[in-house]
Amino acid sequence: KATVNQKDFLHISDFDKATILNILDRAREVKELLKSGERTYLPFTGKTMAMIFAKPSMRTRVSFETGFYLLGGHAIYLGPNDIQMGKREETRDVARVLSRYNDIIMARVFAHQDILDLAKYATVPVINGLTDYNHPCQIMADALTIIEHVGQLEGTKVVYVGDGNNIVHSWLLLASVIPFHFVCACPKGFEPDQETVEKARQAGVSKIEITNDPKEAVRDADVVYADVWASMGQKEEAAHRRQVFQGFQVDEELMKLAGKKAFFMHCLPAERGVEVTDGVIEAPNSIVFPQAENRMHAQNAIMLHVLGL
Ligand code: CP
Ligand code: NVA
Repeated sequence: KATVNQKDFLHISDFDKATILNILDRAREVKELLKSGERTYLPFTGKTMAMIFAKPSMRTRVSFETGFYLLGGHAIYLGPNDIQMGKREETRDVARVLSRYNDIIMARVFAHQDILDLAKYATVPVINGLTDYNHPCQIMADALTIIEHVGQLEGTKVVYVGDGNNIVHSWLLLASVIPFHFVCACPKGFEPDQETVEKARQAGVSKIEITNDPKEAVRDADVVYADVWASMGQKEEAAHRRQVFQGFQVDEELMKLAGKKAFFMHCLPAERGVEVTDGVIEAPNSIVFPQAENRMHAQNAIMLHVLGL
């Protein structure tokens, strides 16, 4: 863990189990407070956050901006055409300038190296709002959602069906810290990054399986999880992927194989009729909207953590 910079929130595996569980506990506490209508807890008063988006977003943008505001701070949205990090201006300059105005930088970028560079040169905490490699805030929200609906994360079986993408990498990095059973069922050639799989296995914390058989994978799942087959930056591959991913749609039949206790989760946005059927998303055991809400609560706790509050 020599390269880990603890001032930032870039990968779940940069933190130990106690810290991750503390952040999740804090998320529940602050969630309860906000849900009760309480508006006098304002730890971010006088603080500002710069939010860099090189890609589109609904949840990440709105949940960060709203959460930071509700706890007293002010967030600034910088869209794909604003600072054009790496194009209009070098990342290391963006990092040092924004650090002079802001207390936190949150960024959604393409290349993972961009967020590493941003964190290296920023003197304030940098939070990863998704890169081509991972999406740690999403998986923290997912962990919170599982704790609320299943009762605990430890020992549960989470089965991801689809592309071995950024979401899967964050699941694997969580699995290297908290013990649960993680299965990724993906088509051949769409497996997650081998090095990340190895790293998660070597941690020896969780049971980790990568398979090409979704029907076998979902058996006895506590959670069946889907994401788009073509991520942002891959949309021109969408038609091809729809062919290759045949058999990996989460439909009613697959949920039946999973069994009665299985919840359905999806980080959203979803393409109904592609990676998941409308019926599965709308079913009573689908928890995609509490999951989306938890983005805000998980991130509030992450921001409190990186600011040492
Ligand atoms: N799940 C998620 O990150 O959604 P957005 O792309 O809308 O932010
Ligand atoms: N894998 C998706 C997640 C979106 C929240 C993407 O990167 O587009």
